Amino acid sequence: MQEILDRNRPFAKLGNTADYIPELAYADPDQIGLTIASPDGKITSVGDCETPFTLQSISKVINLLVAVLDNGPDQVFSKVGMESSGEPFNSVSELESKPENRPLNPLINAGAIAVSSMIHGNNVEEQYERVCQFISGIIGRDNLEYDEKVFQSEILTGDRNRSLAYFMKSTGVIDTNVEKALELYFRLCSIKVTCSDLAKIGLFLSTGGRSQGQVVHKNLPRAVKISLSIMLTAGMYNESGETLLRSGIPAKSGVSGGILAAPPHEMGIGIIGPAINGKGNSVAGLKILEDISSKYRLHIF
Ligand code: DON
Repeated sequence: MQEILDRNRPFAKLGNTADYIPELAYADPDQIGLTIASPDGKITSVGDCETPFTLQSISKVINLLVAVLDNGPDQVFSKVGMESSGEPFNSVSELESKPENRPLNPLINAGAIAVSSMIHGNNVEEQYERVCQFISGIIGRDNLEYDEKVFQSEILTGDRNRSLAYFMKSTGVIDTNVEKALELYFRLCSIKVTCSDLAKIGLFLSTGGRSQGQVVHKNLPRAVKISLSIMLTAGMYNESGETLLRSGIPAKSGVSGGILAAPPHEMGIGIIGPAINGKGNSVAGLKILEDISSKYRLHIF
């Protein structure tokens, strides 16, 4: 692992920290960390895995899982599609041109905002707490918090997301309060995690939704199968096809530079490298994922 990390460290120089959310631009572009969680409970980390970062789009996977458990897959997929997009994660045009104006999948911004509107709870606080409890159950700590500065930064600059959300309200994809759906979405994107948290979530997914060997909700295996399938085809946005060819692992990235990967039945992988490419994926992180896949023969084909 150390050798893979060191070999790929220079690739960080080819990317930049995200700056369309101003607070993310302050991240250290040279931070590189990798954690693997094995089914026997062993957690191994190399590099800078202690510095927390925000989940950003990786939260979309959890959001989807909770929404599917809350509403069932049929209800969720009556509002969002299951197809990969091929367009940037915050594309507006795509939303207007698709049948019934549904977002193409739950892992692009429009899809995740629509999914947020379906999380059960009487108010944003309750919805947020329910999602946090779900994450806490997986990672084994209940002191999760969101980064207030990143959250405020997203609220202040999130007009693209706002426009996607209001458009979806106009077409009936969102039938609840738009500002509340956005607030939940921004809060979930701002949750602070470390590489080992991501690796534990990856392990949970790769073992079909088991926590300490137990399935904690009867519909979880199905919800996990859905999430992994969509991660495989759409988890890395308009770089999902290339990532599938190169690494062949269900994975999800975020603009903070995190990557969550879940090779089925094998292990959980958490990677951080805040220097991202134009498509929103960690440059060094993608290389590390490819090398890990090759070293441990994780490509699903
Ligand atoms: O809404 C946004 O644009 C961010 N909170 C999340 C986007 C993101 O992470 C896309 N990822 N690669």
